Amino acid sequence: MTATLPTSDLTHVRFDVSADGIATALIDRQGERMNTLGPDVMIDFERVVARCESDDAIKALVVGSGKPGSFVAGADIRWLHSLEDAGEALSLLSEAHQVFARLEALHTSGKPVVAAIHGACLGGGLELAMACGMRIASDDEKATQFGQPEVKLGVLPGAGGTQRLPRLIGIARALDLMMTGRSIRPRSALKMGLVDETCPKEVLLDIAARRARDAIGQPASERHGAFDALKTWLSPKHLQELALEENPLGRRVLFSKAEEQMLETTKGNYPAPKAILDVVRTGAEDGTEAGYAAELAAFARLVVSPEADALMGIFLDGQALKKDSGIDGDASPHEVEKVGVLGGGLMGGGIAAINTTKAGVRTRIKEVDAAGVQRGLSYVGKTVAGQVKKRRMSSRDAAKLMQRVTGSTDYRGFGDIDLVIEAVFEDLDLKHSVMQDVEGVIRPDAIFASNTSSIPITQIAAASSRPEHVIGMHYFSPVEKMPLLEIIVTDQTAPWVTATCVEFGKRQGKTVIVVNDGPGFYTTRILGPYMNEVGFLLTEGVRIEDIDSAMVDWGFPVGPVTLMDEVGIDVGAKIVTIMQQAFGERMAPPESFALLTADDRAGRKNGRGFYKYAEGKKGDVDRSVYEVLGVTASKSVDTQEIKDRLSALFVNEAVRCLEEGILRSARDGDIGAVYGLGFPPFRGGPFTYIDRYGAARLVELLEGFAVRFGDRYAPADLLKTHAADGDPFRS
Ligand code: NAI
Repeated sequence: MTATLPTSDLTHVRFDVSADGIATALIDRQGERMNTLGPDVMIDFERVVARCESDDAIKALVVGSGKPGSFVAGADIRWLHSLEDAGEALSLLSEAHQVFARLEALHTSGKPVVAAIHGACLGGGLELAMACGMRIASDDEKATQFGQPEVKLGVLPGAGGTQRLPRLIGIARALDLMMTGRSIRPRSALKMGLVDETCPKEVLLDIAARRARDAIGQPASERHGAFDALKTWLSPKHLQELALEENPLGRRVLFSKAEEQMLETTKGNYPAPKAILDVVRTGAEDGTEAGYAAELAAFARLVVSPEADALMGIFLDGQALKKDSGIDGDASPHEVEKVGVLGGGLMGGGIAAINTTKAGVRTRIKEVDAAGVQRGLSYVGKTVAGQVKKRRMSSRDAAKLMQRVTGSTDYRGFGDIDLVIEAVFEDLDLKHSVMQDVEGVIRPDAIFASNTSSIPITQIAAASSRPEHVIGMHYFSPVEKMPLLEIIVTDQTAPWVTATCVEFGKRQGKTVIVVNDGPGFYTTRILGPYMNEVGFLLTEGVRIEDIDSAMVDWGFPVGPVTLMDEVGIDVGAKIVTIMQQAFGERMAPPESFALLTADDRAGRKNGRGFYKYAEGKKGDVDRSVYEVLGVTASKSVDTQEIKDRLSALFVNEAVRCLEEGILRSARDGDIGAVYGLGFPPFRGGPFTYIDRYGAARLVELLEGFAVRFGDRYAPADLLKTHAADGDPFRS
């Protein structure tokens, strides 16, 4: 990539040179709403650099974006995901390294280079900005953000970021940003010294050009921007951090602490954070060139790793779901302007909150009494206040938003509602009664959605005067945080109703999967055998902490016993009973559940569960639980066997859901498990996991367990088919 081609041929960069020699390169990737970096954009960008290097009339360069709302959002993930060969990745990234090095050299050798940043400046976008000599950003706290989120995709910043970021903001802060993948807003970026100056977006390009012009002829070391950044840079706290980083012993402490924390969270399941640490350390100890080389090698290795493949796969599935209408035909969604929420408890409050903060619709809460209404409204108030605190919203906008949510103890205000979401107690008779009441007051074309976690929607719809308008909208707790919405349709649900709810779920910020009705739908159902097996393991005398730590080690965010305490042992017992009625013996719960509920153990909510709770905090295992179960917890089971038994049942049930048409696709099954249940993302979801593990090997594992523990381990027919023909679930 050294040829100097005419910049007039550029496709993805708008290039212009002013009369006084200030060149402006606005990245504008054709055919895309957002800028991403892939080989096509890089080819054009190299031409820009070559032209600036060779054209004496060009005195300085401003790098900006031609898109209204984003600078560069990162690498093109479809392209990254398509890389199958480490050698190919290495050579492509080496070219990017060279271009960025030439950009950096342009600045140091006398032609100032200024990045003008508004909107997302993430991943490769931030790496590009850091290769520029100065960075001016818009002060738009909502739109503009900086980050290196590569770790979330199983890789590390591969275009120089692992070396340039620590140089700019210090090792500790750089490690924090790179290892968490979190992003920061302009105010913090300025404080950290990541950007030199901020200004209103309207004058961004003008200011950038002015700074570039002013810097012409100045030595590079003196071309520094804002005083504010320098002030923070010289603050005692920052100097202390620097002192630590400057000295080899201090650095060793810093790295070993970071490594300890990293292992605590990743359990060694994610190779990228470890690679980030190693590569940054190489740069700090052996110099930047060694650091760049280490970064390239690590990137090439990681980008073709199974973990990156799984994580990028999930990301791309999520993108595909954003475009999925949820139906196979072409029924159009109806407008949703006003939503009624029945029940202002944990779930109703959460739903009302995202209606307000995300979807921006008017919401009316109906509760049994004034305290209930107040509970729902306070939930919304707290969520809105959180947004203000994070500076995502002004207090004025927050006050305006709060006027859009109201509540009452009757159905006043329900006459013009488009969609009702029911979140009252989990009781079929109660759900029937509130549905019939509300159907008496809402418009005939309004939709009734239930947030039940286990009752088949068909059973709820059976009491409706318009079952074609009845649907399930299953949210997860806490609603404002969990990314998934599982929409459940019956044979009668009208396609426009489904399309409307899918569209509305997306407005609420959710990733939406649509599943067919059945006991436990998809997400609750696959938890059934998993939870039951925990009961069997306990009955066999396996220790609670061994079960939990095995599955956390396997990659779940919490162990299954802890999860049962969180969900409520009583709730879990109710659900598995429904499952047993539907699926027979193979879903029969162990006797232990009945013993626990008889002992009034409901889990965290009543402070009596598998663990002890004091002042709402989880403590040690409550050993008295073994007595209730009539077991002595002594059995030492191989950790691998715990992992194998629980994971095999979980994914086998997912296959049954696909086989029975509960799931529309294996993709939805992967996303549902990862986003709804915390299935380990680096395993990519149950179906991606089976493809990697091998269907035939899984069948063998299940059959082996079936001999030892019974028919509940029988492999699903569809799994056997895949085992026989060798076809993957995900192509
Ligand atoms: P909750 O007990 O926090 O809230 C239920 C609310 O419904 C209470 O505030 C109660 O006063 C109100 N209510 C009862 N009868 C009513 C009526 N006739 N009219 C209006 N309001 C009435 O329960 P939670 O956890 O919010 O659960 C609600 C529903 O969501 C249940 O069906 C549950 O299975 C489901 N769900 C719960 C999840 C969770 O993690 N808690 C997750 C997904 C679904």
